[in-house]
Amino acid sequence: MKAWFARRYGGPEVLRLEEAPKPVPKPGEILVKVHATTVNSGDRRIRACDFPPGMKTLGRLALGWNRPRQPILGTELAGVVEAIGQGVTKFSPGEAVYAFPGGKMGAHAEYVVLKQDGPVAVIPQGVDMQTAAALCFGGSTALTYLRRGGVEAGQSMLVLGGSGAVGSAMVQLGKLKGAEITATTSAGNLDLVRSLGADTVIDYHSTDVSGLAERFDVIADTVGAMDFATAQKLLRPNGRYLAIAGAMKEMLGSLRKGPEGKRMIAGPADERLEDIVELGRLAASAHYRPPIDQIYDWADMPAAHAQADTGRKRGSVVVQVAQ
Ligand SMILES: NC(=O)c1ccc[n+]([C@@H]2O[C@H](COP(=O)([O-])OP(=O)(O)OC[C@H]3O[C@@H](n4cnc5c(N)ncnc54)[C@H](OP(=O)(O)O)[C@@H]3O)[C@@H](O)[C@H]2O)c1
Repeated sequence: MKAWFARRYGGPEVLRLEEAPKPVPKPGEILVKVHATTVNSGDRRIRACDFPPGMKTLGRLALGWNRPRQPILGTELAGVVEAIGQGVTKFSPGEAVYAFPGGKMGAHAEYVVLKQDGPVAVIPQGVDMQTAAALCFGGSTALTYLRRGGVEAGQSMLVLGGSGAVGSAMVQLGKLKGAEITATTSAGNLDLVRSLGADTVIDYHSTDVSGLAERFDVIADTVGAMDFATAQKLLRPNGRYLAIAGAMKEMLGSLRKGPEGKRMIAGPADERLEDIVELGRLAASAHYRPPIDQIYDWADMPAAHAQADTGRKRGSVVVQVAQ
């Protein structure tokens, strides 16, 4: 089989399409022929060794000091089960599935093996392969932070960055929870973010959100556009600032409370089967759809990375691996 390898850190040009052994499912594993995958902010961060401030040493220790330890990137995918290992009861050959290998990666390949008990599920009827491939990265992050932030019906939430993979999921899933959503984005994305369910949209280039008169129960910062000190001024008592794109400073700061019970929440998102099943269910009922910015051919993986590198993509960038 073929797979895209990042054998060193750098720009999209470090990526090479190479031959690799087709994996064989062990007991409890399934072999999936990948049809679609995405290139997201996680893939580009690892490829570029571009970690948030204060996280570089930790990032390199965890992911590879001189080069990515797992050279095949790719955190999410959709495809068809081709073979099953001994003892597999949850899936059958021919079934269409979507999966979230997450930090284990490996989805930028023609085939992957997955544990049947991991974050993998059958694609619900009515959800196409490209959408299924893009469900999990932004969606799981949003579900994690809605949970950690205790977002409930009737609360007001300010989403900083409503148009990225995480932000577009946060707007849709926060709205589904019954929150009143104000979201920031740039002028070209105002209609998109409104269509995702935001009650109020703000062009962050023309309005300084730190000067808003309104107060919020939750601020979901999906892009690192604010700091906790500024967020505190916009939060109601007991409000939560979700530092989704947070660095070491935010992780340490999340250990203590601010004044009036205001808290910062940071850290890696969960990668849970229950969450991806929920995202599939919501996609099937048209309550959650990751916007797809562009679909690239398999041969154009470096171009998909280049687009993710811009920091300007709208929702997800999908790569079609097989028809
Ligand atoms: N904690 C975790 O486990 C976790 C998980 C996933 C992602 N993350 C982090 O979350 C961040 C976002 O990830 P992503 O995948 O959503 O990125 P993404 O899809 O690349 O985000 C791109 C979007 O961000 C918007 N944007 C950029 N700067 C902005 C600003 N100052 N204000 C408002 N919008 C802005 C852009 O909109 P415009 O073009 O309109 O500006 C664009 O649509 C990354 O830093 C990523 O590392 C953390």
